Amino acid sequence: MNLVLLGAPGAGKGTQAAMLVSEFGYAHISTGDILRAAVKNETPLGLEAKKYMDAGDLVPDSVVIGLVSERLKEKDTENGFILDGFPRTIPQAIALTDELSKLGRDLDAAVAVNVDPEVIVKRLTSRRCCKNCGHIGSVADAVCPECGGEMFQRDDDKESVIRNRLDVYEKQTAPLIDYYRGADILKEIEGDKDPKDVYVDVKKSLGL
Ligand code: AP5
Ligand code: MG
Repeated sequence: MNLVLLGAPGAGKGTQAAMLVSEFGYAHISTGDILRAAVKNETPLGLEAKKYMDAGDLVPDSVVIGLVSERLKEKDTENGFILDGFPRTIPQAIALTDELSKLGRDLDAAVAVNVDPEVIVKRLTSRRCCKNCGHIGSVADAVCPECGGEMFQRDDDKESVIRNRLDVYEKQTAPLIDYYRGADILKEIEGDKDPKDVYVDVKKSLGL
């Protein structure tokens, strides 16, 4: 199954993607994770991306489209993939359609996870992630519940940056909901419930 996960920052895209990957083995393509790894390794891409990410703005389309196009050529994506955090603009969505058609592939669904912005601000200010395995947890986790690794707060999980990310989402990414509705592959999910219950709804919407 080839999927796009849509939703505001903090809607739970990474959380749902991790569950789908663990049950079905799809390749997980998170542009945020790829960019954060580049920032950490201080690659030219990371140095370019950091200023946008720290401010909660989008990295330029040309940069992200190039990254995803390369990633989609890797063999592990042939058994299905989940795009998490891409596309985020209409030009990115058009580029994705073009790239997939070159590869003779197609999207099966775009799953939009809907959560109220104020719930999101609370979630993101208390999010912590594992330095070692990437597990997404919360401020209540003294160490990673999966591997015992050290937990850290993302640089962009400060309230002022979160609010800018939400504005950017409304202006630049929310139009993708209509884009995928028009393509007749949109599935809308209520994301303000227990993550396991959201996951049940995600699978139901996909016929899994
Ligand atoms: P990215 O890493 O994609 O961040 P984001 O979209 O802002 O989304 P998040 O990762 O913050 O949230 P999520 O939906 O994955 O939620 P999560 O599962 O973690 O992008 C970061 C930056 O990179 C961007 O700002 C931009 O600069 C750049 N970038 C990335 N892609 C780009 C692109 N395509 N184009 C241009 N620039 C790009 O959950 C959040 C929290 O809530 C966690 O603590 C979790 O435990 C908790 N939680 C999850 N589900 C639930 C639930 N159901 N109930 C209660 N709590 C929950
Ligand atoms: Mg994420």
